[in-house]
Amino acid sequence: MIALGSDHGGYELKQEIISHLESKGIAYRDYGSFSPEPADYPEYAHIVAHAVVNGECEKGILICGTGIGISIAANKVKGIRAAVCTDCFTAEATRLHNDANILALGGRVVGPGLALKIVDTFLNTPFSGEERHSRRISKIEAV
Ligand code: RB5
Repeated sequence: MIALGSDHGGYELKQEIISHLESKGIAYRDYGSFSPEPADYPEYAHIVAHAVVNGECEKGILICGTGIGISIAANKVKGIRAAVCTDCFTAEATRLHNDANILALGGRVVGPGLALKIVDTFLNTPFSGEERHSRRISKIEAV
């Protein structure tokens, strides 16, 4: 189950991602926002982050205008590793190395074509499981 959330800056791209996930038969839960009206990104970041740490959803995708505000807010929730990605290389690397559990996208930064490739890369890349990466992740969590 993939948790989705956005503010107004990411609303349109969230709708594209929903169509994409549906076309691939990937289950998702949309935590809003539910219209393109102005909305405060921390609210959606926190709802999605809690859905991921509580185990309701395996991973999350958050979208605001830049991906930055919404990822900063999500990363305040213990256990969340949210990564802003603007290309497939970083989407792959953040799964392999950081075991990122939330992908953050900028609806005003990446076009829908690239965004959907980034989503596929993020969802299809497993954590490497290598000891050095696990050790570094546990040091992040130890704060
Ligand atoms: C909203 O205008 C914009 O600030 C927000 O979507 C996001 O880009 C914040 O980081």
